[in-house]
Amino acid sequence: MRIVMLGCGGFIGSHLLNRLLAEGNCEIHGWDLTDDKIKKHLTHPSFCMHRSTISSSAALQEIEQEIERSDVVINLAAICNPAEYNTRPLEVIHSNLFDIYPLIELCAKHRRWLISFSTSEVYGRTVASYLPDKDYDDPNLYELRETETPLIMGPISNQRWTYACAKQMTERLIYAHHMDSKMPFTIIRPLNFFGPKMDYIPGRDGEGVPRVLACFMTALLDGKPMYLVDGGTARRTIVSIHDAIDAILLILKQPNQSQNRIFNIGNRMNEVTIAELADLMRQTYAQITGKMQYKEHPILTINSSEFYGKGYEDCDRRMPDLSKAQELLGWTPKIPLADVLLETMTFYHQNYAQTPVAESALKTCEGV
Ligand code: NAD
Ligand code: UGA
Repeated sequence: MRIVMLGCGGFIGSHLLNRLLAEGNCEIHGWDLTDDKIKKHLTHPSFCMHRSTISSSAALQEIEQEIERSDVVINLAAICNPAEYNTRPLEVIHSNLFDIYPLIELCAKHRRWLISFSTSEVYGRTVASYLPDKDYDDPNLYELRETETPLIMGPISNQRWTYACAKQMTERLIYAHHMDSKMPFTIIRPLNFFGPKMDYIPGRDGEGVPRVLACFMTALLDGKPMYLVDGGTARRTIVSIHDAIDAILLILKQPNQSQNRIFNIGNRMNEVTIAELADLMRQTYAQITGKMQYKEHPILTINSSEFYGKGYEDCDRRMPDLSKAQELLGWTPKIPLADVLLETMTFYHQNYAQTPVAESALKTCEGV
């Protein structure tokens, strides 16, 4: 199988490359701005790295040549960190919509299968969250179903929704091209994949405010408080990157089952509030380090506008309906949250605990 992988150097891309190259039977051309997470693959005979943006005209010419020779195009490229959605809205919209548009057109022109990574954020907030009694007992009011659930986002002034809206428009572009030219597609809506190599640790191999896993990990590594945005009442279902890659491989291997469909990929069994996640992570870190004082590591609360800036609005809950992935792909997630956290936090501890932190970064993870 010949694969074009855009955004191959990121968290998901690095794990997907690991598995595809280990399984063999594929030739991969990858594009990314960075290759820090995939250094070990750069000399692999079945992998050709193009260290470049996908949005330049020169790159698009190269990409088109590979698309013509490929069986499938996998798009992972994005700015996908919530700390940037309402602080860099224009770049977020460009990255998740306008930069992707020419690639969709190329897949349509050559009628190549496009597997595009969207997000569970396209669902926005649950119906239940708008009702006075916030009825979370009726699944019809909170469960996220790929072809039924309405996509409900906040007002334009809440620019946090720039990412979700850009991703939604990209989904609609893909679907319109499919209806127009029969371009085969698969849209994946991930729900909080967790695992080693996710994001970065500020002050060690990155700057700014990463996603929650790396934020809480940084606080533990630096001995600084974990911050719960608006009390940490938001809920997330967390799936192991390994379970998620299993699902992606099943999508690739079963085109008759996976083409021209949308799939939630998540884990219903691993639902926590963010406050519960913070406590689980400090308990896990005490286990990893053997230092029981981590069980009492400080956890504080912070207002979202202080942490993310004006225009932030949270997704209240993300409980996916996984019946399509189960029935069509034969996939169910297996790894419990405790094991996800133990593996992931051990990775961060082993790779970062000894790395000195830059003074400038001591402020981060306390907000943008
Ligand atoms: P990531 O930030 O680790 O990887 C994204 C990669 O895209 C990065 O390596 C980045 O350098 C690259 N990229 C961005 N713009 C580019 C450009 N113009 N040219 C070339 N490369 C570019 O993120 P991830 O977690 O691996 O996510 C991958 C995809 O999955 C994204 O589209 C994201 O929206 C989606 N997603 C991820 C999750 C998750 O839980 N990780 C959840 C929902 C959706
Ligand atoms: C993330 C990102 O938008 C994308 O990677 C992806 O599209 C989406 O997950 C998804 O899985 O579909 P989100 O889960 O909101 O979205 O991002 P995080 O930064 O991981 O935040 C999760 C929750 O933790 C939010 O409620 C946030 O307010 C909270 N948080 C984050 C804290 O309470 N403290 C922190 O230090 C960081």
